[in-house]
Amino acid sequence: MKKELNVGLVGLGFIGKIHAIGYRDIALCFPEPQVTANLKAVLRTSLGRDQAFIKTAGIEMETTSIEEFFAQPLDLVDVCSPSAMHTQYVLEAARRGIPIYCEKPLGKDLADARIMAEAATQNNILTHIAFTQRYLPAIRQMKAALDSGKFGEVLNFRSNIFHSSYLDPRRPMAWRLRFAESGGGAFADLGAHLIDLVKYLIGDAAKVGAKMRTFIKERPVSRGSHQTETVDVDDWALCTLQLKNGAIGHIEATRMAAGISDEIKLQIFCRSGSLHFDAGNPNEIRIHDLKTGRWISGKLPYPDVSGERPITSTYPGAKYSQGRFQDTHMASCYDFLQCVQQNTPSQSDFQSALAVQEILEAAYRSAHTTEEMLNLPLKP
Ligand SMILES: NC(=O)c1ccc[n+]([C@@H]2O[C@H](COP(=O)([O-])OP(=O)(O)OC[C@H]3O[C@@H](n4cnc5c(N)ncnc54)[C@H](O)[C@@H]3O)[C@@H](O)[C@H]2O)c1
Repeated sequence: MKKELNVGLVGLGFIGKIHAIGYRDIALCFPEPQVTANLKAVLRTSLGRDQAFIKTAGIEMETTSIEEFFAQPLDLVDVCSPSAMHTQYVLEAARRGIPIYCEKPLGKDLADARIMAEAATQNNILTHIAFTQRYLPAIRQMKAALDSGKFGEVLNFRSNIFHSSYLDPRRPMAWRLRFAESGGGAFADLGAHLIDLVKYLIGDAAKVGAKMRTFIKERPVSRGSHQTETVDVDDWALCTLQLKNGAIGHIEATRMAAGISDEIKLQIFCRSGSLHFDAGNPNEIRIHDLKTGRWISGKLPYPDVSGERPITSTYPGAKYSQGRFQDTHMASCYDFLQCVQQNTPSQSDFQSALAVQEILEAAYRSAHTTEEMLNLPLKP
């Protein structure tokens, strides 16, 4: 078994750097890591920027050439390009039989996501998607508590993910604000994480309906410019999910919540209690147990989730924490490195990502056409 795997990164923007830090720091944050990463190469659109970062992160080479990138001996390709550009790199890696870690959402739309998932299946490669909230200790506790059956059937849920990053109307156009490049606004970017959590914790969706709004419809083409471009993605979205098991609930996502830089909340109401997650407290959930009439919080007496690595073997301990965001990304990178090393499938693979993508597609269709609930699976 290899103790170090060669990773090739595609894109070194915001999240490419977060992944690079995650890979590099596995060896610093885990006393006896199961496997470590060697950052062999990065594929970029242009060279010359971020030289201090590249050197310190230990990235061996950068290139703008796909051929040169894939000529490196890569054990894993990690795709961190803008969402609409995932497909090209996923297909390039798949046809070479290289395991792929891809940022979320899997594609710009369901058609692209299906092509990627199919290519992975055809080439029999391991895949993984960056729905990183799953790695939070609080979310693992919620999953174990729900799976224990103690709280009975889930009746309803509500969740929100709020940022304020696009409130400033002077913030210029970028790929995230163009539907063709992003596959959607706040809902595809942020809401996708909550869709994955609902699927992971409660179950698969049967019906999807959504309402969306774009509050700032024109933005400067570049910082300070008087020339503007039309924004065609959502600033706010409210999605209702009816699940196959009968549970129903809402996901609300916005990048325009004044005063809130990053808030994620999820409440799940069951027949015999309720479970409450607030990402401000990523290590603990709160539970109301109807039988005792008590609220419980702190370290909960639930075992690890069956079929998944114990949280301690992917998520850094408190003394090495670099904050919730970086910790979840490191855990996701480390989990997939272990999958590749041991040749075992990820619980969060492209098939799982495809189900999230279908809900995204249904939500956008619903919001743009009928605003009624659409049945899954979607008609092509
Ligand atoms: N899981 C998460 O928490 C999370 C958070 C942020 C972003 N993301 C996802 O990560 C991806 C990238 O987002 P970001 O915030 O890093 O964006 P970004 O704009 O900061 O960086 C994108 C990078 O990709 C490069 N790039 C652009 N076109 C390219 C191409 N054709 N080929 C290769 N590289 C190209 C850009 O030069 C840039 O370095 C998106 O899919 C986004 O949804 C996920």
